[in-house]
Amino acid sequence: MSDIGIHPVSGAVGAEITGVDLATGLDDQTLGMLRQAWLDHLVLFFRDQPLTPAQFLAFARRFGTIIEYPFVKGLDDYPEIIPVVKLERERINFGGVWHSDTAYLDVPPMASMLLAREVPSAGGDTLFANMYLAYETLSEGMKRLLGGLRAVNSSSKADASRTREDRIAERGRADARALYEAAHPVVRVHPETGRKALYVNVAHTVRFDGMTEEESAPILTFLYRHQVRPEFTCRFRWQPGSLAFWDNRCAQHNAVNDYAGHRRVMHRITLAGDGPVGGA
Ligand code: SIN
Repeated sequence: MSDIGIHPVSGAVGAEITGVDLATGLDDQTLGMLRQAWLDHLVLFFRDQPLTPAQFLAFARRFGTIIEYPFVKGLDDYPEIIPVVKLERERINFGGVWHSDTAYLDVPPMASMLLAREVPSAGGDTLFANMYLAYETLSEGMKRLLGGLRAVNSSSKADASRTREDRIAERGRADARALYEAAHPVVRVHPETGRKALYVNVAHTVRFDGMTEEESAPILTFLYRHQVRPEFTCRFRWQPGSLAFWDNRCAQHNAVNDYAGHRRVMHRITLAGDGPVGGA
Protein backbone atom coordinates (compact mmCIF):
# COMPACT_ATOMS: atom_id res chain seq x y z
CA MET A 1 0.00 0.00 0.00
CA SER A 2 2.71 2.52 0.97
CA ASP A 3 4.57 1.72 -2.28
CA ILE A 4 1.72 2.89 -4.48
CA GLY A 5 2.67 5.86 -6.66
CA ILE A 6 0.30 8.28 -8.43
CA HIS A 7 2.01 10.04 -11.34
CA PRO A 8 -0.03 12.58 -13.36
CA VAL A 9 0.61 12.16 -17.08
CA SER A 10 -0.48 15.67 -18.12
CA GLY A 11 -1.56 18.90 -16.47
CA ALA A 12 -5.21 18.15 -17.20
CA VAL A 13 -6.16 14.49 -16.95
CA GLY A 14 -4.82 11.02 -16.25
CA ALA A 15 -2.40 9.47 -13.77
CA GLU A 16 -0.23 6.41 -14.01
CA ILE A 17 -0.36 4.18 -10.95
CA THR A 18 2.70 2.22 -9.90
CA GLY A 19 3.35 -0.30 -7.15
CA VAL A 20 0.13 -2.29 -7.38
CA ASP A 21 -0.52 -5.79 -8.72
CA LEU A 22 -4.09 -5.93 -9.98
CA ALA A 23 -4.04 -9.72 -10.26
CA THR A 24 -4.18 -10.06 -6.50
CA GLY A 25 -7.32 -9.02 -4.65
CA LEU A 26 -7.20 -5.37 -3.58
CA ASP A 27 -7.55 -4.67 0.15
CA ASP A 28 -10.04 -2.01 1.16
CA GLN A 29 -7.40 0.61 1.91
CA THR A 30 -5.79 0.23 -1.52
CA LEU A 31 -9.21 0.26 -3.14
CA GLY A 32 -10.09 3.51 -1.36
CA MET A 33 -6.82 5.10 -2.43
CA LEU A 34 -7.32 4.07 -6.06
CA ARG A 35 -10.91 5.32 -6.06
CA GLN A 36 -9.81 8.72 -4.74
CA ALA A 37 -6.97 8.90 -7.30
CA TRP A 38 -9.50 8.04 -10.02
CA LEU A 39 -11.89 10.79 -8.88
CA ASP A 40 -8.98 13.26 -8.79
CA HIS A 41 -7.44 12.34 -12.16
CA LEU A 42 -10.48 10.96 -14.13
CA VAL A 43 -8.41 8.23 -15.81
CA LEU A 44 -5.98 5.81 -14.19
CA PHE A 45 -3.32 3.95 -16.17
CA PHE A 46 -1.59 0.77 -15.01
CA ARG A 47 1.33 -0.97 -16.75
CA ASP A 48 2.32 -4.64 -16.91
CA GLN A 49 -0.99 -6.13 -15.73
CA PRO A 50 -1.51 -9.19 -17.99
CA LEU A 51 -4.71 -10.17 -16.16
CA THR A 52 -6.65 -13.28 -17.07
CA PRO A 53 -10.29 -12.53 -17.98
CA ALA A 54 -11.36 -13.78 -14.54
CA GLN A 55 -8.83 -11.50 -12.80
CA PHE A 56 -9.92 -8.56 -14.96
CA LEU A 57 -13.56 -9.15 -13.98
CA ALA A 58 -12.65 -9.48 -10.30
CA PHE A 59 -10.74 -6.15 -10.41
CA ALA A 60 -13.63 -4.41 -12.18
CA ARG A 61 -16.18 -5.72 -9.65
CA ARG A 62 -14.28 -3.96 -6.85
CA PHE A 63 -15.33 -0.64 -8.44
CA GLY A 64 -18.89 -1.29 -9.56
CA THR A 65 -21.46 -3.44 -11.29
CA ILE A 66 -20.53 -4.76 -14.72
CA ILE A 67 -22.94 -4.18 -17.60
CA GLU A 68 -22.88 -5.50 -21.16
CA TYR A 69 -22.40 -3.42 -24.30
CA PRO A 70 -25.61 -3.18 -26.38
CA PHE A 71 -24.17 -3.87 -29.84
CA VAL A 72 -21.38 -6.44 -29.69
CA LYS A 73 -21.26 -9.83 -27.96
CA GLY A 74 -18.60 -10.40 -25.35
CA LEU A 75 -16.00 -13.16 -25.24
CA ASP A 76 -17.54 -16.63 -25.53
CA ASP A 77 -16.65 -17.63 -21.97
CA TYR A 78 -16.81 -14.11 -20.49
CA PRO A 79 -19.77 -12.24 -22.04
CA GLU A 80 -19.13 -9.19 -19.82
CA ILE A 81 -15.80 -8.56 -21.59
CA ILE A 82 -16.04 -7.20 -25.12
CA PRO A 83 -13.12 -7.51 -27.52
CA VAL A 84 -12.19 -4.13 -29.02
CA VAL A 85 -10.30 -5.24 -32.10
CA LYS A 86 -8.95 -3.79 -35.31
CA LEU A 87 -7.58 -6.37 -37.73
CA GLU A 88 -4.80 -5.82 -40.25
CA ARG A 89 -7.28 -5.63 -43.16
CA GLU A 90 -9.74 -3.26 -41.47
CA ARG A 91 -9.77 0.48 -42.07
CA ILE A 92 -11.99 1.92 -39.35
CA ASN A 93 -11.33 1.44 -35.65
CA PHE A 94 -13.82 1.07 -32.80
CA GLY A 95 -14.23 4.26 -30.78
CA GLY A 96 -12.18 6.44 -33.13
CA VAL A 97 -14.14 9.63 -32.45
CA TRP A 98 -14.35 11.75 -29.29
CA HIS A 99 -17.07 10.36 -27.02
CA SER A 100 -18.28 9.37 -23.60
CA ASP A 101 -19.33 5.72 -23.74
CA THR A 102 -22.96 4.97 -24.75
CA ALA A 103 -24.27 8.43 -23.74
CA TYR A 104 -27.41 7.50 -25.74
CA LEU A 105 -28.58 5.13 -22.97
CA ASP A 106 -31.05 6.41 -20.35
CA VAL A 107 -28.53 5.34 -17.73
CA PRO A 108 -25.07 5.67 -19.28
CA PRO A 109 -22.13 3.79 -17.75
CA MET A 110 -20.13 5.25 -14.89
CA ALA A 111 -16.82 3.87 -16.10
CA SER A 112 -14.99 1.73 -18.61
CA MET A 113 -11.83 -0.33 -18.33
CA LEU A 114 -9.65 -1.27 -21.28
CA LEU A 115 -6.88 -3.87 -21.08
CA ALA A 116 -4.37 -4.11 -23.94
CA ARG A 117 -3.67 -7.60 -25.30
CA GLU A 118 -1.95 -6.89 -28.65
CA VAL A 119 -0.86 -3.44 -29.80
CA PRO A 120 0.90 -2.14 -32.93
CA SER A 121 4.58 -1.32 -32.55
CA ALA A 122 3.68 2.34 -33.16
CA GLY A 123 0.31 4.07 -33.12
CA GLY A 124 -3.04 3.06 -31.63
CA ASP A 125 -2.79 5.47 -28.68
CA THR A 126 -5.91 6.70 -26.89
CA LEU A 127 -6.64 10.37 -26.14
CA PHE A 128 -8.57 11.50 -23.06
CA ALA A 129 -10.12 14.90 -22.28
CA ASN A 130 -11.27 16.48 -19.01
CA MET A 131 -14.91 17.64 -19.14
CA TYR A 132 -14.69 19.51 -15.80
CA LEU A 133 -12.10 21.79 -17.36
CA ALA A 134 -14.17 22.05 -20.52
CA TYR A 135 -17.06 23.36 -18.42
CA GLU A 136 -15.07 25.54 -16.04
CA THR A 137 -13.31 27.43 -18.86
CA LEU A 138 -16.57 28.56 -20.51
CA SER A 139 -17.73 32.15 -20.05
CA GLU A 140 -20.28 32.84 -17.31
CA GLY A 141 -22.85 33.65 -20.00
CA MET A 142 -22.35 30.32 -21.76
CA LYS A 143 -22.50 28.46 -18.43
CA ARG A 144 -25.84 30.16 -17.66
CA LEU A 145 -27.22 29.25 -21.08
CA LEU A 146 -26.10 25.61 -20.95
CA GLY A 147 -27.16 25.11 -17.34
CA GLY A 148 -30.82 25.05 -18.36
CA LEU A 149 -30.44 22.77 -21.37
CA ARG A 150 -30.70 19.08 -22.04
CA ALA A 151 -29.25 17.40 -25.12
CA VAL A 152 -30.52 14.45 -27.13
CA ASN A 153 -27.96 11.70 -27.66
CA SER A 154 -28.43 9.00 -30.29
CA SER A 155 -26.67 5.75 -31.15
CA SER A 156 -27.24 6.37 -34.86
CA LYS A 157 -24.87 9.24 -35.73
CA ALA A 158 -22.93 8.23 -38.81
CA ASP A 159 -19.33 8.64 -37.56
CA ALA A 160 -19.94 6.62 -34.40
CA SER A 161 -22.04 3.95 -36.15
CA ARG A 162 -19.26 3.45 -38.68
CA THR A 163 -16.73 2.68 -35.92
CA ARG A 164 -18.89 -0.27 -34.74
CA GLU A 165 -19.58 -1.85 -38.14
CA ASP A 166 -16.66 -4.29 -38.36
CA ARG A 167 -17.27 -5.55 -34.82
CA ILE A 168 -21.01 -5.94 -35.40
CA ALA A 169 -20.26 -7.92 -38.59
CA GLU A 170 -17.97 -10.20 -36.59
CA ARG A 171 -19.94 -10.64 -33.36
CA GLY A 172 -22.99 -8.37 -33.35
CA ARG A 173 -25.75 -9.04 -30.87
CA ALA A 174 -29.16 -10.13 -32.19
CA ASP A 175 -30.53 -6.61 -31.57
CA ALA A 176 -27.43 -4.80 -32.86
CA ARG A 177 -29.55 -2.62 -35.16
CA ALA A 178 -31.61 -1.20 -32.30
CA LEU A 179 -31.70 2.59 -31.99
CA TYR A 180 -31.06 4.14 -28.59
CA GLU A 181 -31.85 7.74 -27.79
CA ALA A 182 -31.75 9.64 -24.49
CA ALA A 183 -31.86 13.26 -23.38
CA HIS A 184 -29.41 14.26 -20.63
CA PRO A 185 -28.41 17.54 -18.96
CA VAL A 186 -25.74 19.38 -20.96
CA VAL A 187 -24.01 20.17 -17.68
CA ARG A 188 -24.06 17.23 -15.29
CA VAL A 189 -23.13 17.21 -11.63
CA HIS A 190 -20.75 14.39 -10.81
CA PRO A 191 -22.46 12.27 -8.14
CA GLU A 192 -19.22 11.63 -6.22
CA THR A 193 -17.22 14.86 -6.55
CA GLY A 194 -20.11 17.34 -6.86
CA ARG A 195 -18.23 19.08 -9.71
CA LYS A 196 -19.94 20.17 -12.91
CA ALA A 197 -18.89 18.59 -16.20
CA LEU A 198 -19.85 19.28 -19.81
CA TYR A 199 -21.86 16.29 -21.07
CA VAL A 200 -22.25 16.56 -24.84
CA ASN A 201 -20.04 14.73 -27.33
CA VAL A 202 -19.62 14.81 -31.08
CA ALA A 203 -20.15 11.05 -31.52
CA HIS A 204 -23.61 10.86 -29.94
CA THR A 205 -25.16 14.29 -29.31
CA VAL A 206 -27.57 15.38 -32.06
CA ARG A 207 -29.36 18.49 -30.76
CA PHE A 208 -30.59 20.35 -27.71
CA ASP A 209 -33.87 19.02 -26.37
CA GLY A 210 -36.74 21.19 -27.68
CA MET A 211 -34.66 22.61 -30.56
CA THR A 212 -33.95 21.50 -34.12
CA GLU A 213 -30.58 20.15 -35.22
CA GLU A 214 -30.08 23.30 -37.27
CA GLU A 215 -30.78 25.57 -34.31
CA SER A 216 -28.51 23.53 -32.04
CA ALA A 217 -25.58 23.15 -34.44
CA PRO A 218 -23.75 26.48 -33.93
CA ILE A 219 -23.39 26.06 -30.16
CA LEU A 220 -22.78 22.30 -30.30
CA THR A 221 -20.09 22.79 -32.94
CA PHE A 222 -18.38 25.33 -30.68
CA LEU A 223 -18.61 22.95 -27.68
CA TYR A 224 -17.21 19.97 -29.61
CA ARG A 225 -14.16 22.02 -30.57
CA HIS A 226 -13.76 23.68 -27.17
CA GLN A 227 -14.07 20.50 -25.08
CA VAL A 228 -11.05 18.77 -26.64
CA ARG A 229 -8.61 21.67 -26.60
CA PRO A 230 -5.10 20.20 -26.25
CA GLU A 231 -4.68 21.65 -22.75
CA PHE A 232 -7.63 19.56 -21.52
CA THR A 233 -6.20 16.27 -22.79
CA CYS A 234 -3.62 13.54 -22.38
CA ARG A 235 -2.45 10.79 -24.71
CA PHE A 236 -1.79 7.22 -23.58
CA ARG A 237 0.69 4.94 -25.30
CA TRP A 238 -0.31 1.30 -24.84
CA GLN A 239 1.83 -1.77 -24.26
CA PRO A 240 0.49 -5.31 -23.84
CA GLY A 241 -0.78 -5.51 -20.26
CA SER A 242 -1.54 -1.78 -19.98
CA LEU A 243 -4.90 -1.04 -18.40
CA ALA A 244 -6.85 2.24 -18.50
CA PHE A 245 -9.81 2.94 -16.22
CA TRP A 246 -11.81 6.07 -17.07
CA ASP A 247 -14.79 7.95 -15.67
CA ASN A 248 -17.40 8.48 -18.40
CA ARG A 249 -19.18 11.07 -16.25
CA CYS A 250 -16.40 13.62 -16.58
CA ALA A 251 -13.99 12.40 -19.28
CA GLN A 252 -14.14 11.68 -23.00
CA HIS A 253 -11.82 9.52 -25.06
CA ASN A 254 -10.86 8.95 -28.69
CA ALA A 255 -8.96 5.95 -30.08
CA VAL A 256 -6.40 7.20 -32.62
CA ASN A 257 -6.62 5.34 -35.94
CA ASP A 258 -3.03 5.60 -37.19
CA TYR A 259 -1.85 1.99 -37.55
CA ALA A 260 -3.12 0.81 -40.93
CA GLY A 261 -2.12 -2.78 -41.70
CA HIS A 262 -1.49 -3.64 -38.06
CA ARG A 263 -3.56 -5.45 -35.48
CA ARG A 264 -4.74 -4.10 -32.12
CA VAL A 265 -6.65 -6.24 -29.60
CA MET A 266 -8.07 -4.87 -26.36
CA HIS A 267 -10.57 -6.18 -23.79
CA ARG A 268 -13.18 -3.81 -22.41
CA ILE A 269 -15.41 -3.91 -19.33
CA THR A 270 -18.11 -1.32 -18.62
CA LEU A 271 -19.47 -0.41 -15.17
CA ALA A 272 -23.03 0.74 -14.47
CA GLY A 273 -23.78 4.39 -13.72
CA ASP A 274 -26.79 6.34 -12.66
CA GLY A 275 -28.97 8.79 -14.61
CA PRO A 276 -27.10 12.09 -15.17
CA VAL A 277 -28.32 14.92 -12.94
CA GLY A 278 -28.06 18.53 -14.11
CA GLY A 279 -26.87 21.60 -12.31
CA ALA A 280 -27.90 25.11 -13.33
C1 SIN B 1 -13.47 2.63 -26.75
O1 SIN B 1 -14.00 3.65 -27.18
O2 SIN B 1 -13.94 2.00 -25.81
C2 SIN B 1 -12.19 2.13 -27.38
C3 SIN B 1 -11.02 2.94 -26.97
C4 SIN B 1 -9.73 2.39 -27.52
O3 SIN B 1 -9.74 1.37 -28.20
O4 SIN B 1 -8.69 2.98 -27.27
